Parts: sequence; C-alpha cells; structure tokens
Amino acid sequence: MLILANTFRSTGAVLFFIGALGILGYLLYNFVIGRKEVGSEVELAANKKPYLDDEQLETKKLDMSLTMGLGLLAVIGLGLPLYWLGEPGRQSGYTDFTTGQLASRGETLYEELCSACHGPGAVGGVAPYTVTDTEGRFVASVQWKAPALTAALYRFSTEEIRYTLNFGRQNSPMPAWGAPGGGPLTAQQIEELILYIQEIQLAPDELATEVEAGIEQAARFEVTAADPSLEGDDAIDAAIEEYITSATPAELGKLVFNNPGSQGAYSCARCHTAGWSWDSDLVALDPEQPFGSLIPLQVSGGGGFGPNLTSGATTRQFLTAEDHAQFLRVGSQDGVAYGAFGQGDGGGQMPAFGGCVGDRDTTEFSPFVGFCEIEIDGVPDNRGGMLTEEQIQAVVAYEREM
Ligand code: HEC
Ligand code: HEC
Repeated sequence: MLILANTFRSTGAVLFFIGALGILGYLLYNFVIGRKEVGSEVELAANKKPYLDDEQLETKKLDMSLTMGLGLLAVIGLGLPLYWLGEPGRQSGYTDFTTGQLASRGETLYEELCSACHGPGAVGGVAPYTVTDTEGRFVASVQWKAPALTAALYRFSTEEIRYTLNFGRQNSPMPAWGAPGGGPLTAQQIEELILYIQEIQLAPDELATEVEAGIEQAARFEVTAADPSLEGDDAIDAAIEEYITSATPAELGKLVFNNPGSQGAYSCARCHTAGWSWDSDLVALDPEQPFGSLIPLQVSGGGGFGPNLTSGATTRQFLTAEDHAQFLRVGSQDGVAYGAFGQGDGGGQMPAFGGCVGDRDTTEFSPFVGFCEIEIDGVPDNRGGMLTEEQIQAVVAYEREM
C-alpha cells in the first residue's frame, strides 16, 4: 500500500508539473499577443470585430467545444476514481507515520521515567524498595526485580497493560502513572508508552530462546545447590543438560515456575511466591530487626500478588489437569469465570501463557490491531504464546504436587 501511495504521489507530482507548465505557457502566450493590442480603439474595438459566421459556428466551433467538454468529462471520470484508488494507501501510510511518531515519543517517556527500574530498552532491571509492615514501619531495604517488558504483550492484553500503567502494582515498587491512579501522565502519554512497548516486543523465536535460557539458569541453580563441589563451565553446562533432559515433568515445571530470565518476566514465582522478586531469604528472620520477622521466608507458590497455590489449592480449583492447563494458556479475564470457584479480576492479573493476547481487546478504533498477527513468508500467522505446550504441561504437573 505504501508503494501504491508513493506511485500516486509521484504521478501527482508529474501531473502538477505538467499543469504548472501549461499555466506558465498560457500566461506567456497572453503576454506576447497582448503586445499586438488587438482590442485597441486605434484599429478596431474587440467587440466590433466580426465573429465567426454561422457556417463555422455550427460546425468546427461547436465540434471543438463539445470535444473539449467530452475530454474534460473523461479527465474527471477517470481522474477521480484513480485518485480514490490511492486513498487506502495514503491512509495506511499516514497511520504508520503517526504510530511511529507516537511510539518514539513513548520511547522518550520510557527512557525518562521507566528505564531506571526496567532497564534501558526495557530488558529488565532492579528497583530499590523499602518493605514496610502493615503499619507502614520499616522492615527492610531491598532490590526488587523489575521484569523486562519485551514480552509483556504476549501475556497481557493492551487493556491490561493500560490498567497496570494507570494504577501501578500496589504493594510493589511499580508506581501508578496514569491520572486514574493519581499518577502524573495523561491518557495520551500512557497510549504512547503502550505503543512503544508494542514496538519492542521480541519476535516469537527470540522469545523462545530467552525463555529457554532462563530455564537453563534455573537448572544451574538446582545443580550447583545439589553439588556445590561442581566447578568449571564445561562441567556445569554438562550437568545442566543432564538435569534438564532427565527431569520429570514436575522438576521441569519447577524450573519454568522459577525462571529467573529477564528479571523474572517469564516466571510464575514473581507473582505467586512473596519475596521471590527481592530474594527475601537473604534478609528473612533477622532477630536483630524489631520487625524483621515480618519478612516471609519464601514459600514456593505460597501466594503473593497471585493466590496461594499450595496445599492442594489448584487441584481443588481445577478438577482435571486439562482444565488447569487451559487456564494457564488463556489466563484470567475481567469478569470471566475460571476453574471451580474463580473469577478473573481484570487489570493485569493472571497472564496468558499459551497464546498471544496482545490485541485480545482491541476495537476497530484502536491503533493496536495486529500485534499478534504476523506474516511468515507472506502468510498471516498467530504469534502463539510465551510458553510451549510442554512447558505448560510441566508447570501443571509441578503445581498439582504443591
Ligand atoms: C520504581 C521502579 C519502577 C518504575 C519507575 C517503573 N516500574 Fe514498572 N514495574 C516495577 C516493578 C518492580 C514491577 C514488577 C512488580 C511485581 O513484582 O509485581 C513493575 C511492573 C510493570 C509492568 C507489569 C509487567 C508484568 O509483566 O507484570 C509494566 C507493564 C510496567 N511495570 C511498566 C512500566 C512503565 C511503562 C514505566 C514507566 C512509565 C514503569 N513501569 C516504571 C518497577 C518500576
Ligand atoms: C503478573 C502476576 C502473575 C503471574 C506472572 C502469574 N500469575 Fe497466576 N495468578 C495471578 C493472579 C492475580 C491470579 C488470580 C486470578 C485473578 O484474580 O484474575 C492468578 C491465578 C492463578 C491460578 C489459579 C489459582 C486459584 O486457585 O484461583 C493458577 C493455577 C496460577 N495462577 C498459576 C500460574 C502459573 C503456572 C504461572 C506461571 C506460568 C502464573 N500463575 C503466573 C497472577 C500471576
């Protein structure tokens, strides 16, 4: 369409040039014959000059006028549809242009306001944070992992991201940015940030590689904890590979659950294990701290922003492993029932892991249409989700044993 718009633009330029030449020629011609002073009273006034006789008027002159009329009609009849043909190209060109401009404003906003925590380019970072008790008293200063945002639209819809930006994530370092949550940014600026986030989403194969790398990192933790005497990159790499290939589904699921890659962006633990994002076991239960005992020791899946998944909670919520897996694929949606008792609350809660939901809630007026639809060799294809089916099955196995 852009090519079409450009072709039309150049055709237009040529036509304009020809038109301009014509007008110039006409003016020049008038100027030249004007010198002859045809209408001068010295000779004969123009209105006294004999005009064409009937013979000529009704044949040559009439034919010429009619032909000119027909010619003009043809120009209008063809020119208008031709102009109209280029309209879709012009429109999409303009949308691309403005979307790009808004996204680049979003990038400026991002680097100014967000990069200190989420890292330059939104690849993940850390946020200094003060944990307080429910009375607001100091408990500990921690470094809270701020997840990469480069796959956020695989997990959340644009509407959910907008909610998180507007209201922040309470009880975490993520502040409210939008006016609805008492933040400093306008709705337009929030929109620009979302367009920027959309622009930096990883391609599906890049994302798969990142998730895999994180799983290997989690496996490294397992193998070095099991055998602290393990030394040398080669030996450790071999042990990691051995661990992953021989892992039971539940063991693999534990790695998926605790994936530390991109500052926890791909993990479940950052929401379902309180303290995971700030390595709470480093500061927990310090008897010297008057309120130190308020810092929970990490209980894997014991609940945080997301609910407690231990003590058989998920097997009661999801009677079958397939129901459980289906919930992980699609996540929760505002006002939609899940499992035996659940209702999704909306606003960026439980993400979708098995299918791209970036434009699940777009309307035709939104500029976000099409994030999930990409073209592979010219064929439209859905991007798919953040986790593979095997990874989803593994995490289901792990959770159902919690
Ligand atoms: C003070 C540090 C800090 C700043 C500044 C900050 N964030 Fe965050 N943000 C966080 C942390 C930490 C989290 C993860 C919270 C959690 O663990 O639940 C987060 C979560 C998010 C999430 C949800 C991601 C997910 O997958 O759950 C989005 C989206 C987000 N931030 C976008 C932004 C944008 C855009 C800005 C700038 C306007 C910004 N953040 C500024 C610390 C920050
Ligand atoms: C951004 C935070 C977040 C992340 C990341 C997250 N969850 Fe959740 N999860 C939630 C919230 C919040 C709920 C409650 C549902 C709601 O309110 O919409 C939930 C609900 C659930 C439930 C249903 C629990 C019940 O009994 O109602 C399961 C199971 C679950 N999550 C598993 C996972 C798994 C597995 C992962 C990782 C693959 C994961 N979650 C990642 C926030 C999260």
